[in-house]
Amino acid sequence: MSEIISIKSPREIELMRQAAKITAGARSMGRQAVRDGVSTREIDKAVHEYIVKNGAVPSCLGYEGFPAATCVSVNDEVIHGIPGKRIVRNGDIVSVDLCATYKGFVGDCAGTYACGEVSDEARRLIEVTRQAFFEGIKFAKVGYRIFDIGEAVQDYVESHGFSVVRDFVGHGIGRSMHEAPEVPNYRPPRGRHMNPRLMKGMTICVEPMVCAGDWQVDILDDGWTVVTVDGSLAAHYENTILITDGEPEILTMAEDI
Ligand code: MF3
Ligand code: CO
Repeated sequence: MSEIISIKSPREIELMRQAAKITAGARSMGRQAVRDGVSTREIDKAVHEYIVKNGAVPSCLGYEGFPAATCVSVNDEVIHGIPGKRIVRNGDIVSVDLCATYKGFVGDCAGTYACGEVSDEARRLIEVTRQAFFEGIKFAKVGYRIFDIGEAVQDYVESHGFSVVRDFVGHGIGRSMHEAPEVPNYRPPRGRHMNPRLMKGMTICVEPMVCAGDWQVDILDDGWTVVTVDGSLAAHYENTILITDGEPEILTMAEDI
């Protein structure tokens, strides 16, 4: 991946807004599809159809060989779950993560949703993960650096007794799904990531991945699904944002998230 951070022109920002709007709409479809008895493949289908219907391309499909439009990750699965025959049941929590490319630009967002009644811990985990994103982006503006975001995410999450994943991070986004810089959700050890200043016109994905227990993760034999080692629940929340002089613009915002 290039280490050059792209600064978007006003025209490019407008195209990012359009791609992100479709991406956010697709996440809403995924959220609405989460109900008792649905297969993870059906959730993917709802997302995929929405993206195509809106003239966009599901960018996860075929990305490094990923076989679907949507990553659907249930309970102790953190990210990159492959949709399939698995049936979602009341009490499960389901993370939906997807990207859409429109007119050459990519949007990326994720969220974790409860199926029916879930445990208090699961409900709290979903809410803390979502709020961690909003705590992080308080520092996503000119005058701060990338690490300021992750530090705020980590402090908020840990103050609620949960932990943040280290092995996967947020990222820049634009013409490619993954661009520089990397956006960790924690204070990284010296040298692991670059800590650039935030500049007007950068577009980045801030995406806390939070575990109810320990933060260590494993990858299943399918080569994709990331799970917590201790089997604890995990949640994910992500938006594509635009850096400005003032508050960041959440490009993948929708009323129901
Ligand atoms: N949406 C994911 C991200 O946040 C990308 C998933 S890559 C895939 O970076 F191949 F699994 F789709
Ligand atoms: Co992402």
